[in-house]
Amino acid sequence: MKQVFIKDIAEHAGQEVCLKGWVRNIRHSGKLVFIILRDGSSEIQAIAFKPDMSEETFERAKRLTLESSVVITGVAKPHPKNEAQYELSVSNVEVFQLADEYPIGKKEHGPDFLLSNRHLWIRSSKQWASDLIRHTVYFAICEYLNNNNFFRFDSPILTPNACEGTTTLFELEYFDEGQAYLSQSGQLYLETGIMSLGRVYDFGPVFRAERSKTRKHLTEFWMMDAEAAWVEHDENMQIQEELIRYVIRKVLDTCAKELQILERDIDALKATDAPFKRMTHHDVIEYLRAKGSEITHGSDLGAQDEVMLTEGSPVPVFVERWPKEIKAFYMKRDPQNPDLVLGNDLIAPEGFGEIIGGSQREDDYDLLLARMQAESIPIDDYRWFLDLRKYGSVPHSGFGIGLERLVAWMSGTHHIRETIPFPRMIYRIYP
Ligand code: 4AD
Ligand code: MG
Repeated sequence: MKQVFIKDIAEHAGQEVCLKGWVRNIRHSGKLVFIILRDGSSEIQAIAFKPDMSEETFERAKRLTLESSVVITGVAKPHPKNEAQYELSVSNVEVFQLADEYPIGKKEHGPDFLLSNRHLWIRSSKQWASDLIRHTVYFAICEYLNNNNFFRFDSPILTPNACEGTTTLFELEYFDEGQAYLSQSGQLYLETGIMSLGRVYDFGPVFRAERSKTRKHLTEFWMMDAEAAWVEHDENMQIQEELIRYVIRKVLDTCAKELQILERDIDALKATDAPFKRMTHHDVIEYLRAKGSEITHGSDLGAQDEVMLTEGSPVPVFVERWPKEIKAFYMKRDPQNPDLVLGNDLIAPEGFGEIIGGSQREDDYDLLLARMQAESIPIDDYRWFLDLRKYGSVPHSGFGIGLERLVAWMSGTHHIRETIPFPRMIYRIYP
């Protein structure tokens, strides 16, 4: 019999169907066995009633263990108390493999235990919901970009130079070519792409050898970099805002059940689909100091500052026009103040922190060269990047979204390690 996915069960009301999946839970009393079956698409209660089947089948159902893999046949029936919910009235149970005693039980487990059993933990309902939200966010980002004239343009992971500074590079020996690095962001390559395709994006894993043990840092995470020719600073932020609001709406529209499983505060999420705030870095420092922070002008924002900044704000906050010393070499100087650059971060509300880093790029050959020299960047390694300012340079801007940070915010998950199937952190690489 053809497999029916549990999410489609309503289309088969009253029919005999074949479900294939795993036993999430099981209990029996007298002539009844109640099996919670999950198949990846959803879950359903399957009820085996002894008189409906052979003695042998009933015994097989009774002996099922948590996470056993099974093929269950039965009739799909609306739940007697809730028409929208379906149950399966079991006629047959085939066991593909009777699972050993499952290590993840109902009792509370510590994060270390769960992370060491990540290969199994991903089956639990919260992790399942989080993975589905990740899937939705990923495709919503691509959908928005595809609908707005951006072309996918894949950047390499093995690279000869740094994008975001040299302090967080993973290095490796590259045959006879010497040192190579794992990419921190595809941005510099995307800047070549716009000169061919106009607007481009990439989406893939990036690597940062960061020694931060915070709940917001991974050493391997997924980044979407977008880059657009002829787009300047303000329009760059406009695109970021539209894109993020598109993602929010997509998640709200299609992930109601997943958000509920994760106990996400839906009203807080809904409230974010409104115009975002914009503040200059200067004004942010003033604002934080007025609230009692000891942060000084010219400083980067720490996690606590980001929390304080968005406290009481239902919407994300753009922090723009940063001191050039604390931002990357490629950012364009602010024509109104040469000490500043036209960069922006986007800080999510509810303490979810920075989710986007972006900027208008320096498009003038001499200014870029001078800036790189001032920062002792090895010019020869970046000839190709400088070339872009010699052969048809244009004003252009772009930004990078950290997928896991965005998923954490959408799903209300406070630790980033639960937003990627196999988190890589300085103290963990297994499994
Ligand atoms: O702000 P970042 O460093 O910006 C760039 O890499 C630019 N080249 C992007 C561009 O303009 N195309 O990183 C972008 C985003 C951050 O805002 C954050 O969401 C995420 O990547 N991010 C991390 N996520 C998880 N773990 C880490 N260690 C992260 N570092 C940055
Ligand atoms: Mg940043």
